[in-house]
Amino acid sequence: MFMNFKEELNHKVGKIEELLREYLPEEAGFQRTIFEAMNYSVLAGGKRLRPLLMQESGRLFGREGKELGPFMAAMEMIHSSSLVHDDLPAMDADEYRRGRKTTWVVYGEDMGILAGDGLMIYAFETASKAFEETDRPDLVGACIRILAEKTGVYGMIGGQTVDVELTGKPVPEEQLDFIYRLKTGALLEASMMIGAILGGADKEQAALMGQVASDVGLAFQIQDDILDVTSTSEVLGKPVGSDEKNEKTTYVTLHGLSAAKKQVEFYSRRAVGALKGLPVQNEFLNELILTLITREK
Ligand code: IPE
Ligand code: IPE
Ligand code: MG
Ligand code: MG
Ligand code: MG
Repeated sequence: MFMNFKEELNHKVGKIEELLREYLPEEAGFQRTIFEAMNYSVLAGGKRLRPLLMQESGRLFGREGKELGPFMAAMEMIHSSSLVHDDLPAMDADEYRRGRKTTWVVYGEDMGILAGDGLMIYAFETASKAFEETDRPDLVGACIRILAEKTGVYGMIGGQTVDVELTGKPVPEEQLDFIYRLKTGALLEASMMIGAILGGADKEQAALMGQVASDVGLAFQIQDDILDVTSTSEVLGKPVGSDEKNEKTTYVTLHGLSAAKKQVEFYSRRAVGALKGLPVQNEFLNELILTLITREK
């Protein structure tokens, strides 16, 4: 059956939704509130970009890894945990996410903190299930390490730290790049590197995938800043004007809208250009990255 890009994308996202349901915890036991809060945030929907990038990076290198499923689910759990914490009153204080009230608004701030913690560590429990389905435990181990590094203080959490610390202060461009490449880029790097490694990429190719993902991440965050100014909360499923409310320096405040748009295009095209230099190709992956230039949510 021939499907166009949009149909193929919807089909793949649907499969990822099924995968997530398979790996999320059952809502039972005395601690069921935490399970409900975790599932509430993950199953609210979202573009599922990170597991998609992981899967497509795996397909690029061709090895049909059974290990990919647990890692894809784990990645979306980590990403969701970062959103649950990012929305907390002590952070961006936002009340709307993925078209619903944020986790802390529904379950309370205490449960918001616990649900974010719960999801982040449950992600590692989930990823480690890949050991049960593999004949390459060395690759699974390497990927768990990448997942941890890119999530933690050298990755997303490190980026959020500088983001929070510089809130309300002028930020030089170099530091803004650092923040974006960590707070957003790092999880994309982990996604594409893990996909590539499980897909059979060698060390150099995996490193290249990391660089490509870092550019995609930078472009993705700049577009997020643009949409925070130009979109509506109905379309985004999250508030607009959050950055202004929180006095954040962004690419838009630093360079203006039109320069920011040009940068989204520049980094996205550079990423796809680097992929085109590989001896293997995945047209869907290239197109996915290019559609991010014009994404509206
Ligand atoms: C939002 O990520 C946070 C950023 C890193 C900009 P997404 O825009 O991927 O959010 P969902 O997963 O689609 O909700
Ligand atoms: C957040 O950046 C990146 C994360 C690591 C969660 P933002 O604060 O701009 O993300 P949104 O706009 O709330 O999704
Ligand atoms: Mg934030
Ligand atoms: Mg935010
Ligand atoms: Mg934002």
